[in-house]
Amino acid sequence: MVMRAAAWHADRVQAGKGQAQPWWPEPPAVDAVEVRLRHEDNRRAWNEAAQRYRAGLDDAVEYLRAGGVHLHPLELEHLGDLGDWCELAVHLQCASGKDTLSLLNAGAGRVVGVDIAEGHIANARQASERLGAAASWYRCDLLDTPHELDGTADLVYTGRGALGWVHDLQGWAAVVGRLLRPGGLFHVLDDHAGAYLFDPAASELRPSGADYFANVTGSRGWTEQYVGDLGREKAEHAVKHERLWPPSAVFSALVGVGLVVEQFGEHPDEYWPAFPHLDPQLRRRLPMTYTITARKP
Ligand SMILES: C[S@@+](CC[C@H](N)C(=O)[O-])C[C@H]1O[C@@H](n2cnc3c(N)ncnc32)[C@H](O)[C@@H]1O
Repeated sequence: MVMRAAAWHADRVQAGKGQAQPWWPEPPAVDAVEVRLRHEDNRRAWNEAAQRYRAGLDDAVEYLRAGGVHLHPLELEHLGDLGDWCELAVHLQCASGKDTLSLLNAGAGRVVGVDIAEGHIANARQASERLGAAASWYRCDLLDTPHELDGTADLVYTGRGALGWVHDLQGWAAVVGRLLRPGGLFHVLDDHAGAYLFDPAASELRPSGADYFANVTGSRGWTEQYVGDLGREKAEHAVKHERLWPPSAVFSALVGVGLVVEQFGEHPDEYWPAFPHLDPQLRRRLPMTYTITARKP
């Protein structure tokens, strides 16, 4: 099942089909209270979405049992054989655990998944029990990732629709920094904010009007393209909040907690069909994703 974080972006695509979900611009969160309120809204929204991940759980288990590795080619290139160096991988924003459990198939000795949505963690637990996988799961806001994990991770892994849900980037980077053991590696592949400057519903490169530096949107409801029919009106779906973080902001936040960036890339490669109507030749002119690999000294 392909389900992506960029609901704001997807809503614009659906707008082209007359199926837009309600959305509105918001100012960036001003303090910790507002950050937590937005994360709580997002928890409720992701619990709705998790219902649909549940529908794909049997397929995910079979895929993983057969040795499947649901990671992006760029991630595989950057991380290499985890069996050579990764005893413990911590996946922040692990959703229902398919990517987390893929890290095991890619050679990690053990994995830990952290996600805010109860539904996702329940799915992940069920999948790992069925597989007998060396995995443990924490249901919490990533900002509250338990301190018992501090200094334990050979790899902190995240991305593919993750950071856009986080409204405190410095707080997020602090968690990455404390989880890593000295010498441990952080990796992210996520949506490049530059792509959001263009209208995803268009068949040509047309400006979207997004603010590259501080785009925050609230929205209500998931598109059926992502979660299918939740069985109730969109007006009854949960509110959620998304934030565009330019790659430089993520880079600086990681440097700010003392990590040393070893690799920083901007890529035309995508991990979901974000511009379904655009000629692929045109689409490949855009920075669709970025990657950062950083090490804790
Ligand atoms: C699109 S998923 C990304 C995971 C994975 N790449 C995937 O495609 O399934 C985004 C995940 O972030 C989680 N999430 C959002 N805000 C969070 C927070 N503050 N703390 C922990 N998890 C959060 C959501 O519950 C959701 O599972």
